[in-house]
Amino acid sequence: MKTVNESKTFPSVTTETMIIGVQKHREQMKNWSAFSEFFDSTLDTWIRAGEISSDRKKLTKFPVAAANANIKRVVFVGLGEGKTLTEENLRETFGLVGKELKALKVNDYAIWLDSFVTPGIEETDVAFLAAEGIHMGFYTVPNYKTSSNEAATYLDQVEFVTTANMEEVVASFDVGRIYAEAVNEARSLVNLPPNMLTATDLANYAVELAKQYDLEVEILDKVQLEELGMGGILSVNQGSTEEPRLITLKYQAKDKWEDVIGFVGKGVTYDTGGYSLKPRESMVGMKGDMGGAAAVLGAMKIIGEVRPKRNVVAVIGATDNMVSGTAFKPDDVITTYSGKTVEVLNTDAEGRLVLADAVTYAKQQGADYLIDVATLTGGVIVALGMDKTGALTNNEEFFESFMEAAVETGEFVWRLPLTEKDKKRIRKSDMADLNNSPGRDGHMIFAGGFVGEFAEDTPWIHLDIAGTSDAKAPHDLGPKGGTGAMVRTLAAFVEQF
Ligand code: BES
Ligand code: ZN
Ligand code: ZN
Repeated sequence: MKTVNESKTFPSVTTETMIIGVQKHREQMKNWSAFSEFFDSTLDTWIRAGEISSDRKKLTKFPVAAANANIKRVVFVGLGEGKTLTEENLRETFGLVGKELKALKVNDYAIWLDSFVTPGIEETDVAFLAAEGIHMGFYTVPNYKTSSNEAATYLDQVEFVTTANMEEVVASFDVGRIYAEAVNEARSLVNLPPNMLTATDLANYAVELAKQYDLEVEILDKVQLEELGMGGILSVNQGSTEEPRLITLKYQAKDKWEDVIGFVGKGVTYDTGGYSLKPRESMVGMKGDMGGAAAVLGAMKIIGEVRPKRNVVAVIGATDNMVSGTAFKPDDVITTYSGKTVEVLNTDAEGRLVLADAVTYAKQQGADYLIDVATLTGGVIVALGMDKTGALTNNEEFFESFMEAAVETGEFVWRLPLTEKDKKRIRKSDMADLNNSPGRDGHMIFAGGFVGEFAEDTPWIHLDIAGTSDAKAPHDLGPKGGTGAMVRTLAAFVEQF
């Protein structure tokens, strides 16, 4: 278990590594004279000489031998102008600090919190953002290299130097760390090779999570899904030798099971495209097609830790999408759990079929609000790039309150329109109620809109994380690979709504 130590004054810090923020206008920094004095006023000289940078996101490592203290090095963190520093700037900057701590193989460190305080960001905010940023930045993708001799390091202990209320600071830091650790767990799920994460494995993970946080859990297997008539998830699973699973987690915080927020996650553990086979280049990476499920599980972990006063149900449709003699085909007509029939035009548009059944099931389990999360389309990447989650909704007010959480967590969400004409195209079929692939033009809208057909009148938000779930390159808050997109926003939303 990790511990948080406290320390009010600089000399009493017991760790060797100290993190100090440097703002462009030092005279505006809280307690700058105290820092400066501690270093015999040499700090200013170093900064003026350019040895220590105050440029935003620039880190400077500095060996120090301060009298009366154990500190051996300071990592100075450039913040630029305090006035213009946003919370997201600071979170990302702490992400870089996390990377630096990892590179230095540091287990224990101290943060001089007051040096990060600006007119808009107070000590408890700094503690929260530091915890999130540092623990996310510190994350390493697990690998299976036999030659790896890297000693595992982890952030064992932190001390704070601050004039603020220490209890509040520590509490805030702890919540930030819970958020980041859930993100990292979601990342690891996304990063797992598909032969190591089947639908059954995903269900087992959910069962463990439920045990850990005292959540209600239900796992439906193939026979049970057949009995229920879940033709959406079952047709996608038809080509596989791996069984599908429908995973349900419930967190009840109110006396009555009412006013329930429903999360629905796409858990396609591998997407070959099926008979509408993906080109070989675009198949690589499709182990991450369960990013929506990972986001939902990560959020449930935070909810289990933080225990907000809201009822939440999470439903995940888990299966892979494979090719075989038994696989479903374009032209098949299937009956979903809702009773609605679908003409399959493209077996690679499988996510919406899985989500259709999961959404209907979530409603049946009492969800009064629905948020589905899915790596649903390449279209969202074309439309918004890799760093923005695409959204649809059927309820402006619900969406607005969701956006408040997204703005707070710094996860960029952008809404696209879903018009009556779009819905008409989803409903156009000679053979069935719906078709699963109305065309390439604007297909993020058709994919999400298809899921909306099953939400019906329940307030609903669709989140397409095909771009944001899996980073193609390292970024400030973590390495290449699974990002844990939407974990924090979903949880923050439950805490606030
Ligand atoms: N899993 C993919 C979407 C995806 C693409 C996720 C890139 C992550 C990165 C989804 O099942 C899919 O194949 N979508 C198709 C839909 C098309 C057939 C209408 C797509 O977006 O090309
Ligand atoms: Zn697909
Ligand atoms: Zn897919």
